[in-house]
Amino acid sequence: MNTQNPLRGRTLAVAGDLSVEEQRYLYEKTRALKEAWRTGGDLEPFRVDDPELGVYLMFLEDSTRTKESFRNAACFHNVKLNVFDANTSSFKKSESIVDTVKMLYGYSRRSIFIMRTKTEGVCRALEEQVGDYAQRIGGETPVFINGGDGKHEHPTQEFLDEFTFLEQRGFDDSSIHVALIGDLQHGRTIHSKAEGLKVFRNVVVDLVAPEELALPETYKRKMRENGFEVREWGSIDEYLQSGHVSDTWYFTRLQLERMGDEVKEREDELRRAVTFRPDFLNQLPEGTRFFHPLPRHREKPVVPPFLDSTALNGWDEQSINGFFTRIIELALVAGKLGHDFTGQGPLPKPPSQPFISEVPITRKTTVQDRFKVGIKPVDEGIVIDHIARGHSEQEIWNRVDRIRRILNLNVRSSHGVFHTSDQEFKGIISLPDITEFSPTDLKKLAAVSPGCTLNIIKESSVASKFRLSMPPKIYNFQEISCKNPECITHPSGHQHVAPFFHRDGSEAFACHYCGKVHGYGDIWDL
Ligand code: NCD
Repeated sequence: MNTQNPLRGRTLAVAGDLSVEEQRYLYEKTRALKEAWRTGGDLEPFRVDDPELGVYLMFLEDSTRTKESFRNAACFHNVKLNVFDANTSSFKKSESIVDTVKMLYGYSRRSIFIMRTKTEGVCRALEEQVGDYAQRIGGETPVFINGGDGKHEHPTQEFLDEFTFLEQRGFDDSSIHVALIGDLQHGRTIHSKAEGLKVFRNVVVDLVAPEELALPETYKRKMRENGFEVREWGSIDEYLQSGHVSDTWYFTRLQLERMGDEVKEREDELRRAVTFRPDFLNQLPEGTRFFHPLPRHREKPVVPPFLDSTALNGWDEQSINGFFTRIIELALVAGKLGHDFTGQGPLPKPPSQPFISEVPITRKTTVQDRFKVGIKPVDEGIVIDHIARGHSEQEIWNRVDRIRRILNLNVRSSHGVFHTSDQEFKGIISLPDITEFSPTDLKKLAAVSPGCTLNIIKESSVASKFRLSMPPKIYNFQEISCKNPECITHPSGHQHVAPFFHRDGSEAFACHYCGKVHGYGDIWDL
C-alpha cells in the first residue's frame, strides 16, 4: 500500500475491499465527474494519462456492460488497453491463471487486470501470488479488479448500484429501504450488497424470492451483523400485500446457467413469482424506481418492456453510471485520485486470540483417578479428553473417529465415549506410546475437536494439560479443501492455490477466497 495515496495499488476483489469512507469518496468523485461531463467542464483532473499503464480486460465469462464500460473507461484514461482473448489463449492449453497473468504483468511497468471468471476468488489469489512475484522482482504492485466471479461477488457493479441509489436520493445517505427481487441465490450483484449497502446509515432490506432462489444464509447473517433489518417474502404478490413496500426495487434475472436441473425444471413457476405484472402498478408507493444490473431475458424479462418508458425506469441511468464509477475506480487504483482522502481505510483484523492455553494442574491427579472408566491407565503418554463434550453420542464417536484418521493415530491406544460428572457425554482417547504432539498436530487437533483437552502424562500423573479452542485460521494442511467446486482452490481446477480458512463465528470456517462457509468438520477431506 502506498502511504501517500492509500487507494493506489488496491485490489477490488469484494465490495468490502473498500471501507465505507473510501466508498463515499468514490461516490463524491463520481458525482463531480458526472457533473463536469454533463456541463462540459474540465475532465483532466480525472484522467490518468499514462501510456505505460497496462489495463487488461480478461473476461473469461460473457459480459456486455461490465466489459464495455471498463473498456470505455480505460480509453478515457489514455492508457495501454489490452483486451485478452480467452478463446484463443493458453487457457485452451490448460495454462493456469496465475502463469498467464504473471506473463502479462511483465509487459507493462504498471498493470491493472479486470477479470470476469466462472471460478470464484480469482482476484484475491492473484493479488497474493502475482503480488508476491512483483515484490520479488521489485515491480509495481499489480491491481486486480473483480468484474464478477461465479456466484460470489461483483464489487464494481455494487459500487455503481450504490452510486445510483444515492443519486436517486439526492446523495442523502441517511437511510435506504430496498427490495431485492429475483435470483438472490446465484446473483453475485446481490451478494455484494451485504457489504455495499453499509454506505447508508440505516438499512432495511426486503428479500423477495421463492425458496429455491433465496439469498444464502451467509449473506443474510452478514446483513444482520451489519445492522440491516432483513425481511423476506416468497413472491411479489405476497410482498405487495405486506403493506410496507419499498420505493427502490432491485431486480435480478434468473441465472439459469448456474442452476441445477431440478431448479431449472421449475423455471416458469419461479420466474412468475418474481416477474412484475401490469396489475401491480397501482400498488407501488409514490416515486418508486426500479433497478436491474441487466441484461434482461429477451423473452421472459422479470422487468417487462412495457415499463421501459415509465417513470419507474431507473435501470437505464444505472447502467450508464457504470461508465462513470469505473472511470473513478481506475483513477483511484492508478493513483490519479485519492491524495486528498483523509478518511478511514479498511480496519485491520483484530489480533487473534491464542487457541491453545495451558490449564493449571490444581492437584496431582493420578491417571487412575481421572481416566478410570473403561480406559486403560497410562503411565507415560497422552490422553485427549472432553472430545465433543455435551454433544450426542453419535457426534462424539464421529469426532473420535475423525481425530484418529486426521492425526493418523493408528497406534496402541484405547478410546471411548463416557459420562462426565455433569451427566453429559464426552469422548476420550488415550495414547500410551505418544509422548509429544507437534505444534502442527496440536493445531489440527484444535481444528478438528475444539474444546477438547490434551493431558500429558508423566509417571502416572497429569504433568501438563492444554485446552484447545478453534484456531482463527486454518491453512497449510494436506487434509483440508474448500468444498465449493467453483473455488479457485478447489483441487478439480488445478490452479495450485492452497486452501485457507478464517474462523467465521464460533462453529464455522469461511474460505478466504470464495467466501463459502463450512461447518468446522466440513473443511476436512478425511
Ligand atoms: C450481472 C452479472 O454479470 O453478474 N450483470 C452485469 O454485470 N451487468 C448480472 C447478471 O448477469 O444477471
